[in-house]
Amino acid sequence: MGSIFLSNEELGKKDDDHKPTKMTPIRTQWNAVRVPPRKTLKRVAIALAVGFFVYIFIMNIPTDVPIRDRRRPVYHNSLSGDEPPPTQPKPMPVLKPLRGPNRGKPKASDPEPVPASNYNGPVVFRNLAVSLHAISSTGGGFAENKNILFAASSLKSAALLLPMACQMGAELRSYVHFAIMSRNDIAMDDLRTINGIDESCQIIFHDARPDYTASSTETRHGNAVTRAMYHINSYMHPQAVIVDSSPAETRIFLEAMRVQVSSMNVPLIELPEDAPTQLAWITKLDSSSLATWDKLNMELLVHAGPGTSGNLIRLLKSLTAADFASCSVPHLTIELPNHVDAATAQFLETFQWPPAAAYNPTHARQLTLRHRIKRSGVTEHESSIRFLESFWPTDPQHSHVVVLSSQAELSPRFYHYLKYTALEYMHSNAAIMQQWDTRLFGISLDLPATHLNATEAFVPPLKKSTTPPGDPTSFLWQAPNSNAALYAGNKWVELHAFVSRLLEHQRNTSALDPLFTDKLVSKRYPSWLEHALKLARARGYWTLYPSEQTAANLAAVHSELYRAPEEYEAELPEQAAEAGEVTLATAPLLDSLPGGGGLVPFDEMPLLLWDGVATELTKLDEFAAGYTKEFRAAVGGCGELTPSELIPKRSTKDLFCSRED
Ligand SMILES: *[C@@H]1O[C@H](CO)[C@@H](O)[C@H](O)[C@H]1NC(C)=O
Ligand SMILES: *[C@@H]1O[C@H](CO)[C@@H](O)[C@H](O)[C@H]1NC(C)=O
Repeated sequence: MGSIFLSNEELGKKDDDHKPTKMTPIRTQWNAVRVPPRKTLKRVAIALAVGFFVYIFIMNIPTDVPIRDRRRPVYHNSLSGDEPPPTQPKPMPVLKPLRGPNRGKPKASDPEPVPASNYNGPVVFRNLAVSLHAISSTGGGFAENKNILFAASSLKSAALLLPMACQMGAELRSYVHFAIMSRNDIAMDDLRTINGIDESCQIIFHDARPDYTASSTETRHGNAVTRAMYHINSYMHPQAVIVDSSPAETRIFLEAMRVQVSSMNVPLIELPEDAPTQLAWITKLDSSSLATWDKLNMELLVHAGPGTSGNLIRLLKSLTAADFASCSVPHLTIELPNHVDAATAQFLETFQWPPAAAYNPTHARQLTLRHRIKRSGVTEHESSIRFLESFWPTDPQHSHVVVLSSQAELSPRFYHYLKYTALEYMHSNAAIMQQWDTRLFGISLDLPATHLNATEAFVPPLKKSTTPPGDPTSFLWQAPNSNAALYAGNKWVELHAFVSRLLEHQRNTSALDPLFTDKLVSKRYPSWLEHALKLARARGYWTLYPSEQTAANLAAVHSELYRAPEEYEAELPEQAAEAGEVTLATAPLLDSLPGGGGLVPFDEMPLLLWDGVATELTKLDEFAAGYTKEFRAAVGGCGELTPSELIPKRSTKDLFCSRED
């Protein structure tokens, strides 16, 4: 435990020395300074021994005794194993109200007393070492582990974060830590009592307040936060740090956290005031998903057909009203048709992106408008090419595209749903271990009312297990969606390769096989969807669809002002409204998800072939192999390829059997 105190004392004198690599040299210096010249060796040795004894006495007596009394044995117990017991029942997520009756009492310490605030001495943490040393079994010494840190300076923020931290702890997916860095010297026990935290709450507390915290100057407080984070990082390596960034939190704390956490290369998740209701889904994610918080990048791609200005304006208004709290606002690309009517032009002149209400400290503009050059008779090919060229992922593992047709209207929650599901199904420990991302083509916000041929009504499947029977559930379907869906970056890259080979094959072949000419997807949908379906069938990919109840809270697809895609405009007559007015529900995200909001693993979801027939994973693979065979036969020339050349490749070379390139 000594190391923390020594390094702290020394660090206290070196205000700007926060670099982690400095730790060892500093300690050596401290020792080196104390090596005396030989002549006075004996006297100094005695003085040193006495000094050291006094030092040990002062440092240990007042810190150890109260801490041992305050620590709750349950936290030690919960840490004694390597993994949280997975069989422990998961309580349903019941978030206590933010300012419930329990939290009315502490108003005594609220607003927080502003202390004499003139002490600027060295920062010494009297209580931090014990709790940090006690967490060695969480693997905190390794860069990758399961530790998540909540931190608060203001007691109000602590009251906001604590129920969320307990909720996350109850999921037993991460080791949840809570560090208090307040200038208020409230006893830890009182803090717990006031916030209604009992032994059932699976979190580990760290008292990261320095000595004389109540009379610290602002600068000292900021330094203490930086130092505390430095030590916490050395012992814990949190995968993500969660703070409250509402006005209740101390400015100096937030500033220090932003600098220090970004230097740790760890995401800092800044929660708004309404987080306990609107962002409760964060507590369900595991440490691996949360570690990817900042890396995950989604771009919005709006494809506006001709004559759909009313629709486009409705979609853009719904995007402006969407909740991007705690996330960076995504880049938006709007593909405009050749003829833009006056109403749309006027709307776009004042259209702001990111929305004015979103947190955007650098005032970055994140909007790209593309306007088409007039062409008569746009073909299927050109349309597909133009669409696929509108996006390219910077990092295919983390950068995805959200495709939106102008008939869609989004709920304020759509972005949180996408972030929640993408983090869970692409980046959680389970997803990584079972390689879910190899199958996941996309995540749809829309639950279509019909099959891909737009004639037969589509009935979503019900939950697989029969207890309780007939529950709504999200499900996996081979059919892709063009109304409102996220496409995984790596699958988009593959779709690019597939379409470029497919188009070349079509251009080069005079007598095309029916496999390439028969359309399975209705001409109400853009032509690229047919290609996406072919790829999904050949590779056994699926798209995640929401249950009916969830879909109603994510996106509405309007058909009142429907116009066929440009490439099919001449073929399809203008169609009048066929559906009633669609209205979006606006419940908090978790309330609209089945089963209390936890995302079920892929193997517990119903799986449907592209034509809606329920299937199993092995059957799906058989169908994929069969379709691939059919596809290769239609292309021709595959007999010449060796078996190793026929192994699925990202370039889709195996499907087209070309020996070139
Ligand atoms: C068409 O096929 C020929 C030979 O079969 C090949 O050389 C050429 O690259 C192909 N593609 C195009 C676009 O002509
Ligand atoms: C539309 O697709 C469904 C599902 O694949 C199929 O059952 C139905 O027969 C199709 N209808 C037409 C008119 O092709």
